[in-house]
Amino acid sequence: MALATSTSSYDLKNAVSSNRLRGLWRMMTGFRLKYLGATLSLALAATSKTVTYLLLRHYVDDVLGQGESAGTLLLIALGFVGLALFEGTFTFLSGRLAAQTAEGVVLRLRNYLFDHIQRLSFTYHDHSQTGELVQRSTSDVDALRRFFADQAIGVGRIVLLFAINLTVLLNLNWKLALFSVIVVPLIVLISVFFFKRVSKAYESYQEQEATLSSTLQENLSGVRVVKAFARQAYERDRFETDNWEKFQRGRQLLMMHSLYWPVTDILCGLQMLAGFFVGALMAINGTITVGTYMAYTGMVIWIIWPMRNLGRLIVQMSTGMVSYGRVTEIIEEEREPLTAGTYSPNGDLRGELVFQDVCFEYDSSSPVLKEISFRCEPGQALALLGSTGSGKTSLVNLLPRFYEYTGGSLTLDGVELSAYPREYLRQQIGIVEQEPFLFSRTIRENITYGVGRDVSQAEIEAAARAAAIHDVIATFPDGYDTLVGEKGVTLSGGQKQRVVIARTLLSDPRILILDDATSSVDAGTEGAIRAALEGLMQGRTTFIIAHRIQSVMIADLILVLDKGQIVQKGTHQELLAQPGIYREIYDLQTRIDIELEREVASVAL
Ligand code: CTP
Ligand code: MG
Repeated sequence: MALATSTSSYDLKNAVSSNRLRGLWRMMTGFRLKYLGATLSLALAATSKTVTYLLLRHYVDDVLGQGESAGTLLLIALGFVGLALFEGTFTFLSGRLAAQTAEGVVLRLRNYLFDHIQRLSFTYHDHSQTGELVQRSTSDVDALRRFFADQAIGVGRIVLLFAINLTVLLNLNWKLALFSVIVVPLIVLISVFFFKRVSKAYESYQEQEATLSSTLQENLSGVRVVKAFARQAYERDRFETDNWEKFQRGRQLLMMHSLYWPVTDILCGLQMLAGFFVGALMAINGTITVGTYMAYTGMVIWIIWPMRNLGRLIVQMSTGMVSYGRVTEIIEEEREPLTAGTYSPNGDLRGELVFQDVCFEYDSSSPVLKEISFRCEPGQALALLGSTGSGKTSLVNLLPRFYEYTGGSLTLDGVELSAYPREYLRQQIGIVEQEPFLFSRTIRENITYGVGRDVSQAEIEAAARAAAIHDVIATFPDGYDTLVGEKGVTLSGGQKQRVVIARTLLSDPRILILDDATSSVDAGTEGAIRAALEGLMQGRTTFIIAHRIQSVMIADLILVLDKGQIVQKGTHQELLAQPGIYREIYDLQTRIDIELEREVASVAL
């Protein structure tokens, strides 16, 4: 890949500026030479156009009717052809360079955004909508592409055409030249007037488009819920309302454009007519030659026409500016530092954890964890039990530093956790998330996802066996090469969970966290996984979050959480011996189990 497009070598944060034009200029780093080349080619093309009119003037005034020779005529004809070729070549070159600039800048921007979004914090992703991020990385990036491809270069073209032709006209006859541009300041004023309004209208249009794509994305993800509740009509109405709003805003935007055109067209048309008329009078009076008049009628078009377009470009540029703002809002977000840390660990973790009055809250709302204190020796298994929302997931999410604890002290192998580099923690800590997620890739790719080395088939199978999923995979025709998700097989919730367990086991973490990892698995399979895990838990610190007493009773230490606080702490035997939530849950679950057995027995009879 070309160096200029590689994201690692370039930090787009430089391109964040309150001055949007400056920011856009910075975004072009590495491509400015190409852009200047494009502009220069334009200048050459524009100059040759003007020279063509001067040649015409020379032909009319000095050659025509002066007993022209065939040689002179041929020379002049060749001159016209040469100039046309010259102009064509440089117009082409300029277009090509401009396209390279725009596509190159945007290619890099897209790569950068993708990488950047992946590196933003969990907190950021908790609060941002996927649809909105997608829209900013596609539609807004595309608006920037248009900015670089058409608008930035277009402005250069217009300014050049204007400057060159006006200079020449001023030299031919300054009075006529000045008369021909009196309308220009008015057009600029009108453009600025529209620029402000179009910016606003476009911003609100893009916002609505983001809302719409969020709605679409959410409804696609939740299509099962919509169908299950037969809420299609309701969702359709909601979508239609949003879509109608977008239509309205789009119409308003177009209205602005369609108002701008006739106003400037009339102005430009009148200006040109007036210029032609006054020029003709001057030619009749003999103030200017016929050749000058002819050259003038050619050139004045290249002054007035670009001015009319300048307005359009200024108006269109406003969309680029708005999109620039929307894209840099993402770029501005701080990345989660992965490798930074005041402590540089070497080797593997032992897995000794000491929580001392650890407190935590998500963005300074109500506390989620309150003064959590416990210690866990290397290799111990620790279980968390508690009602939903009691803070179990939040607690284990602190360990790989997905979130930062807000109070107290949490040491890992004797070192404060906040001193560890995140990347190291995430390599050492394996977490089976509560909501399993698989990529639309093969099962093999999903299982080996976190391992940064080549793994043998035997290793993959061993992990799959431990997660009690090997037998299921073996029934698929393509085995481990079966595609998962949209283009392949659809796995059940429990199967997904087990693939994720296999993935985590394969990465051989020093600390293993199973967050409700067997919630979608039947009791029999859970027993099989538990038995396999017991062997794998040897030598590594393990956190088990589960709702079944049978899953947590094997732990060396059981914490019972309630509303973010530890209400009970001890081994299974200790907790059974004391009154409290643990014994209540135990009694409840054994009673259900006994009743179930009785039912099964009666059915069997
Ligand atoms: N919470 C939050 N922001 C998040 C995640 C959770 O504010 N990004 C809040 C939840 O609203 C909840 C509390 O944090 O009140 C604890 O959530 P969690 O740790 O996920 O609870 P669990 O004990 O894991 O609940 P469950 O058994 O349902 O998984
Ligand atoms: Mg949870």
